[in-house]
Amino acid sequence: MKNKVAIRRIRLKAPWEIELMRTANRIVAEILGLLMEELVEGVTTHHLDLFAEKEILRRGCKPAFKGYHGYPASLCVSINEEIVHGIPSRHRRLRQGDLVSLDLGVVYNGYYGDAAVSGIVGSKGPSVAHRLIEVTKGALEAGISKIKPRPRLGNVSAAIQVYAESAGFGVVRQFVGHGIGKALHEPPEVPNYGRKGTGPVLKPGMVIAIEPMVTAGSVDVRVLEDGWTAVTADGSLAAHFEHTVAITNKGPLILSVI
Ligand code: MF3
Ligand code: CO
Repeated sequence: MKNKVAIRRIRLKAPWEIELMRTANRIVAEILGLLMEELVEGVTTHHLDLFAEKEILRRGCKPAFKGYHGYPASLCVSINEEIVHGIPSRHRRLRQGDLVSLDLGVVYNGYYGDAAVSGIVGSKGPSVAHRLIEVTKGALEAGISKIKPRPRLGNVSAAIQVYAESAGFGVVRQFVGHGIGKALHEPPEVPNYGRKGTGPVLKPGMVIAIEPMVTAGSVDVRVLEDGWTAVTADGSLAAHFEHTVAITNKGPLILSVI
């Protein structure tokens, strides 16, 4: 989501609500897994969107992104220098070596699931693309690993930033993760940069979507004329991973896994 939301209360979820969100997010993870197998040379990004939407409806869910502030599709497909919010198109075909980020959201019984993964079409992508993917995934894991009893959100943000920057890459600031529940975007904002010991304390019952966007060059963002597709200002590669994570008294519970 865009980095700019008014500060409102963070609503804690009851265990039964987290159960529903577990189902919503498991479905997102399942469909993202199926989509990764569709990342084949020649496939259109529109095909990926149709595929995702069918799988969403088949599981009794609704697409979360379609119609959100006018977003026209069920899936975001962002290729190479595209960071997030790439709009699927009948005219855009995947090519061997493309770095593809897939972002998917569903609504299940009024509760939201949201996750993203990145992969490479074929096996022979440039080595920087492979490294970028590993580092972005590692940054997300490093952030989640900081969720211990009563951590500050800034500890999570700082861990993501340090992990990505130590690998020689940069984190995007214009977009951030978010609280999630009965809405796709709830407080708090979850930046992928920041300082340890700052920000709200994470309490059991909070659910947040953590979504590092990491680039191989400039971290500045430009939005294309379609009003959605966010690209790196210098055309460098970007990768994106996202998990929805519940805070429990035993630590983090990643909801967006199978
Ligand atoms: N994971 C992204 C976000 O939280 C996906 C939003 S796509 C949109 O911002 F179309 F819904 F905006
Ligand atoms: Co999100």
